[in-house]
Amino acid sequence: MKTVFITGVTAGFGEAAAKRFIKEGWRVIGTGRRLEKLNALKAQLGELFLPLCFDVCDKQAVFDAVSGLSAQWQNIDTLVNNAGLALGLGSFDKAELSDWETMIDTNIKGLLYVSKAILPKFIEQQSGHIINLGSTAGTYPYPGANVYGSSKAFVNMLSLEMRADLIGKNIRVTCVEPGFCETEFAEVRFKGDLKKAKDFYQGMQALTADDIAESIYWCAALPKHMNINKIEMMPTRQSFAGFAVHRELD
Ligand SMILES: NC(=O)c1ccc[n+]([C@@H]2O[C@H](COP(=O)([O-])OP(=O)(O)OC[C@H]3O[C@@H](n4cnc5c(N)ncnc54)[C@H](OP(=O)(O)O)[C@@H]3O)[C@@H](O)[C@H]2O)c1
Repeated sequence: MKTVFITGVTAGFGEAAAKRFIKEGWRVIGTGRRLEKLNALKAQLGELFLPLCFDVCDKQAVFDAVSGLSAQWQNIDTLVNNAGLALGLGSFDKAELSDWETMIDTNIKGLLYVSKAILPKFIEQQSGHIINLGSTAGTYPYPGANVYGSSKAFVNMLSLEMRADLIGKNIRVTCVEPGFCETEFAEVRFKGDLKKAKDFYQGMQALTADDIAESIYWCAALPKHMNINKIEMMPTRQSFAGFAVHRELD
């Protein structure tokens, strides 16, 4: 039986991915900070699901959680580095420094801690698959994305760098890079302002968490000799707006 370790299963892509993998008979180690949500998932998903409650920004907690896995949960086939967030949509001159720090700590440092904690298992097994959640925001700029977009550019590039360094170790690395997708993401970005979060998705068919879960599962289930480097998707109703031009008569 295969096992996937997914960070951030208490909402959005992570939750949908946990359900998708379990539907296919995989075992899921699912993480998050909200214990009550993890317990509810455990009640729903049963024996195939192992909840682990920790903050990916807490380096010691990450390494303790992975080293504390019982013998029966030690073998992991796939790691999905999904936990992450955007905070605010303020322009670079107005955005909060503390929001930037939280995004860097979570999207960059948290992802590095979890990867570093699990990688020795993959090296020892001589097999494994790391699937990182990047974003179209890491490739294409938009006003207000500043540090969020840059943190995802890090994830997009790190995924390729992981491939470069892990060649010969039979470890696959994939970056899944979605565009606009309706989850708790906007609620978190707008710090609990439900009206703003609702308006964010108004009048357009965004991608769904199930769409992303399907892509993640597809990459994971491919034959082991096949590595999807990156997969980028957007809603049909999302596209590019071109370059901004500031016009003013001198
Ligand atoms: N939605 C989009 O439009 C979109 C597009 C491209 C990429 N992404 C990326 O895809 C990933 C998932 O996004 P989503 O839309 O599913 O967001 P979501 O619905 O807000 O879910 C985020 C998950 O990450 C977990 N998480 C956040 N901070 C954490 C921390 N410090 N420690 C542990 N877990 C943490 C949350 O769990 P707890 O709160 O319980 O800790 C939650 O389970 C993120 O990396 C996001 O940047 C999203």
